[in-house]
Amino acid sequence: MTEHPRHDTRLDRFVDSYSQRTNGMRVSAVRALFAVANRPEIVSLAGGMPNIKDLPLPDIAGMVAEMIRTNGTQVMQYGSGQGEPVLREQILDVMAAEGITAHADDVVITAGSQQGLDLVTRIFCDPGDVILAESPSYVGALGTFLSYQTEVVHVASDDDGLDPAALRETARQLRREGKRIKFLYTIPNFSNPSGKTQPLERRVELLAVCREEGILVVEDNPYGLLTLDADPLPAMRSLDPDVIYLGSFSKTFAPGFRVGWVLAPHAVREKLVLAQESATLCPPVFSQFAISTYLATQDWMGQVEIYRDMYRERRDTMLEALAEEMPEGSSWTRPAGGFFVWLTLPEGLDSQAMLPRGVDARVAFVPGASFYADGQGARNVRLSYCFPPPERIRTGVERFAAVVRGELDVMNTFGIDSAPNELRRGTGLAPDLN
Ligand SMILES: Cc1ncc(COP(=O)(O)O)c(C=O)c1O
Repeated sequence: MTEHPRHDTRLDRFVDSYSQRTNGMRVSAVRALFAVANRPEIVSLAGGMPNIKDLPLPDIAGMVAEMIRTNGTQVMQYGSGQGEPVLREQILDVMAAEGITAHADDVVITAGSQQGLDLVTRIFCDPGDVILAESPSYVGALGTFLSYQTEVVHVASDDDGLDPAALRETARQLRREGKRIKFLYTIPNFSNPSGKTQPLERRVELLAVCREEGILVVEDNPYGLLTLDADPLPAMRSLDPDVIYLGSFSKTFAPGFRVGWVLAPHAVREKLVLAQESATLCPPVFSQFAISTYLATQDWMGQVEIYRDMYRERRDTMLEALAEEMPEGSSWTRPAGGFFVWLTLPEGLDSQAMLPRGVDARVAFVPGASFYADGQGARNVRLSYCFPPPERIRTGVERFAAVVRGELDVMNTFGIDSAPNELRRGTGLAPDLN
């Protein structure tokens, strides 16, 4: 293979040229963790990668080959900026499983729901605008919001997710301060990172507050069909057609296709298509046709059932292991679906400072502060059960609990206010895991 010499990567000669927007971008703690967490000796309870080992790969290979043979010149051509009509129709059936009725013309296909977040922020937000987000919130959404120089204000949550009274109070306070609120960002089902689900009554209450206060709702729902204990709850969008809804095939099929969608009120949809055209001309055509063929020729709902059974076993393993291993003073959520458990450490511990010890103990997790734009979350940890097999999850939780016990020992030896943070720092882990 040809050698491609690399130029010096240490100095950034362009440092004075970047836009303010670029300078506001932060390294995602999750991404920075990947380098470490992917080492084979480490049990990673950090990543959010779906486990797609159970996909029927030979069937999918045959399906894609047939698609190329019969329709190759279309699937490898540019396509519509809004996304392929055939897939937009099929997406209506997917959303019907969560009670949504809509028109295919109001669907815009995106490169994953991550691009949906980007386009929605792009069309609504100017620098300094406020986005309300639940506490805690998906790290990838926070990154997008901050890259548009918005101000993210977290709204308090309780066991049922976003707190409607806190939402009303926060919105009124911000308006008294002269701030412009552009939308509320929420993940009602099995939230990333909290694992919490808003019950139906809570959704109704939140929508009522948003209507009264004139707040647009952006509902992000990549995990909704991965319910592990009960039927899916009605989406917020099914209760209010003004909600902007983000969907994805990343968790119910496979993330590598990078296909998600936005369902939006018609006028908003028009703006989204303009933004999509300027971003990509059109979303990935090959992927869209592959997903469309998958939905038409494979038992996609059967595959969702297979995923549910697999994730249920992993979730149960993690919850059992936590109950057996974690020291007193810790608490955690019991997700009814999705990928994540949100853990609160005993008082006085700091999850970010604990990370190097975790790596020493061969377990990776994500410190809670990653899921806040304002420095909260020091006592929290996100643990994911989606990727490692059950026996690795158990080992990971054992190691994690041992780290927490070790931290408690240090704290009890030196006292809460004395040196432990200093002692724990400087272990050589990348300093930018924040
Ligand atoms: C809450 C949430 N929203 C959006 C995404 C982005 O997913 P994708 O772009 O793969 O659809 C993720 C991925 O983990 C997520 O957890």
